[in-house]
Amino acid sequence: MSFPRCDRTTAWAALRVHHEVEGRALDLREAFEREGDRAARFTLAAPHLRADLSKNRWSEATRSLLLQLAADCQVLAQRDALFGGAPVNGTEGRAVLHTALRAPRGAASPFNAEVHAALDAMLGFAEQVRSAGFSDVVHIGIGGSDLGPAMVVQALQPFAQPGLRLHFVSNVDGHDLAAVLPGLDPARTLFIVASKTFTTQETLANANAAKAWFLDQGGTEVAAHFAATSSNVAAATAFGIAPERVFGFWDWVGGRYSLWSVIGLPIAIAIGAERFHALLAGAHAMDRHFAEADPLDNLPLQLGLLDVWYRNFHGFGSRSVAPYHQGLRRLPAYLQQLEMESNGKSVDREGEALAYSTSPVVWGEAGTNGQHAYFQMLHQGSDVVPVEFIAVREPVYGFAPQGELAERLADQQRKLLANCFAQAQALMQGKRFEDALGERAPTANPELPAAALARHRSFAGNRPSTLLMLERLDPQSLGALIALYEHRVFVSGAVWGINSFDQWGVELGKALCNQLLPRLESGGLEGLDASTAAALRWARGDSA
Ligand code: F6P
Repeated sequence: MSFPRCDRTTAWAALRVHHEVEGRALDLREAFEREGDRAARFTLAAPHLRADLSKNRWSEATRSLLLQLAADCQVLAQRDALFGGAPVNGTEGRAVLHTALRAPRGAASPFNAEVHAALDAMLGFAEQVRSAGFSDVVHIGIGGSDLGPAMVVQALQPFAQPGLRLHFVSNVDGHDLAAVLPGLDPARTLFIVASKTFTTQETLANANAAKAWFLDQGGTEVAAHFAATSSNVAAATAFGIAPERVFGFWDWVGGRYSLWSVIGLPIAIAIGAERFHALLAGAHAMDRHFAEADPLDNLPLQLGLLDVWYRNFHGFGSRSVAPYHQGLRRLPAYLQQLEMESNGKSVDREGEALAYSTSPVVWGEAGTNGQHAYFQMLHQGSDVVPVEFIAVREPVYGFAPQGELAERLADQQRKLLANCFAQAQALMQGKRFEDALGERAPTANPELPAAALARHRSFAGNRPSTLLMLERLDPQSLGALIALYEHRVFVSGAVWGINSFDQWGVELGKALCNQLLPRLESGGLEGLDASTAAALRWARGDSA
């Protein structure tokens, strides 16, 4: 499949000129002064959420040119190829069909019967686990086999079955597993080994250690206490997992898109089958929005195009995600894999070097915590970092607070939202030198000249942000939010003409690790660079 490359389109050239002529200098404060309906025109509704894109450094003209760029790059045809099951992951010759995993039963969607048979089996097992008297479930996996399930289980904690603890162990660092094991009763613990390939070093190491611990504690029925989710069913059974407890899936489910598949087993155990279906339904609603909404109303399309505008025309190298909801504190880590593993590429689909930048660095922290850490840099640092605020209107605590606690929590929710909106305002408004000069600053050094102090205390402003708004964080809205991000990453990747679905860049480190591992035991240093050799000597405790 071949599509026009963005830098060879007329829209790309037009965007270059547009950026020089007006895009670079666009001032948000002036834009709001000028355009009375700016907030309304740049607010888009999508299933279960809406987004205010008006505090971004773009205009109607920019948006039109970006939509023209999408048309020139045939992004919608690329979207249809994705949904239709074309082999869009060219380097691995695979379709990419996470959207099929959330299509309702009976829908005209690829592999619908197989998807629902696998889903039924997984959900049936999840319900069994929920009623079997387990106290703990330990999910062992890494990357896409960890980040999605761990993030979703944390986000949906108020909907989780009380008394059933879920733990996520990913790191090959034994401290991860070791921190979990002492609190477990082997007779009431289920281990899930989650690995698409069932070859991943970290996961197999943790799974073997967990099995050793289980047997060592007098556990006898490995079959009753271990399950697996994998597309390599043979390897999972060879590991010793009972065949009826190995839940298989397909190579057309990418690791970082797999939480909707049987990899979502810990989510289903936590929230139950019905709510898992609601999570899928939320994502499916966003799929339909992406597939059907007009480009002018299409939120994933516009977010992905805005990302391209910032990366390739403004030259912004990163984007910060600030979910103002404690349940979403792992969302930035999840998004790092989703976006950076997908779009961190330097060649196009044909293998030709790119003359433009791709994935930004994605990072962030839950608000308000981030405000007391790195927001200083967002406001006054030398780089412009677009910020994505996520606000949730109605809190859900998992219990009904009463009396004074209810009042205090309601007050905290108002404080949370006020902080969120205030940060976006401050980023945009900034503080002029003259205003800083006129202010009192009781904690400032009184010996400092007023003008110097005012320069420290002024902010340039005009810093862009997006506000995503959810009524409440529940399975449906979370499903929609995640699918929104998936499609937005797809859009920027489609414009850039890259394969967003492979990850060859992680291979070299794995191969070199396998070469170094025996040297850590043997001490052999032949052929190593001096720095790596010194690190190995240090690790072995050999004298320098
Ligand atoms: O190393 C990267 C990666 O292949 C990710 O893409 C994937 O999500 C992760 O490793 C885990 O892989 P697996 O599910 O096969 O264990």
